[in-house]
Amino acid sequence: MTTVHINTSHPYDILIGSGLLDQAGERMAQVISPCKILLVSDSNVAPLYADRAEASLKKAGYAVSRFVFPAGEASKTIDTYIQLLEACACAELSRSDALVALGGGVTGDMTGFAAATYLRGIRFVQIPTSFLAAIDSSVGGKTAVDLKAKKNHVGAFWQPSLVLCDPDVFQTLSDAIFADGVAEAVKYSMIADADLLTLLEQHRIEEDIEQVVTRCVEIKRDVVTEDEFETGGRRILNFGHTLGHAVESYSDFSLTHGQAVAIGMMMIIRASEKRGLCGSEILPRMEAVLTSYGLPTVCPYPPKELYKIATGDKKRRGGRIGVVFPRQVGVCEIIDRPVEDLLALIEEGIG
Ligand code: GLY
Repeated sequence: MTTVHINTSHPYDILIGSGLLDQAGERMAQVISPCKILLVSDSNVAPLYADRAEASLKKAGYAVSRFVFPAGEASKTIDTYIQLLEACACAELSRSDALVALGGGVTGDMTGFAAATYLRGIRFVQIPTSFLAAIDSSVGGKTAVDLKAKKNHVGAFWQPSLVLCDPDVFQTLSDAIFADGVAEAVKYSMIADADLLTLLEQHRIEEDIEQVVTRCVEIKRDVVTEDEFETGGRRILNFGHTLGHAVESYSDFSLTHGQAVAIGMMMIIRASEKRGLCGSEILPRMEAVLTSYGLPTVCPYPPKELYKIATGDKKRRGGRIGVVFPRQVGVCEIIDRPVEDLLALIEEGIG
């Protein structure tokens, strides 16, 4: 087992290792004394893992109730969030009680936001069950739900008390959902760690899952502890995401987040190569690693439509946008560009 300490305003540990799901109660008891717990999960994950998590929590002395919502991004709404708050009230949770999020990013983000706001803030623990959630949404303290027109538009910064990541549970993920995490892992290698890309190229991630999760979590830790409240440096995490979000949105979410980010990374690398910002060795390496996990690398959508979506992106500030350009594997740079340049970037990235 590996421990990654996150030194944010409310410090916490991320434990990564096989078997942690069944140790949830004893591990949690080291940071939160036995109390009432509302275990939050979705309709896909609860049948697979909620009984095991609940048994471990009860064995450690916690009184557990459950809130299970329909799986999918469509549930990440104010309505579900309010139902979750009502469930907290029905379970008579007080400020000394806690929430446990057992699931992927939707579960973690929504539970975190409920924890941030119920009784003006109670503790919560994350047990991510997808590779993507383990290396992305579980780290960093941003919690949110979606509005109809905007994803993640209502939320709070609220750090968990503990994150328990048991990679054994990734075995029930479909290849496509596992690949969503692969796209983020590749992103981390591009922004911070050339050796990680070499590792991803030389081994199947499944063989080194604990090592890969740990390295990705450490990279995100380094970024978010420098910029806990997202005032600048965190934007480096948007590598491949500015164009990727437009691709995801234009596809009407028929592409997964990871598929869209894979395309977005390839587009910005192509454009950067054309502008002389990076060498030509990156593109074939990225293409090989992404396609080996079934991720797409070519954008099938019209540039002008993507541009319209991308310029409506919330990251835009007064007609300029910080675009994350690759310089070499492991090194990216945020360069402030006029929003109009996005059209040229998209065209260069597609062609
Ligand atoms: N919870 C995800 C983040 O803070 O980036």
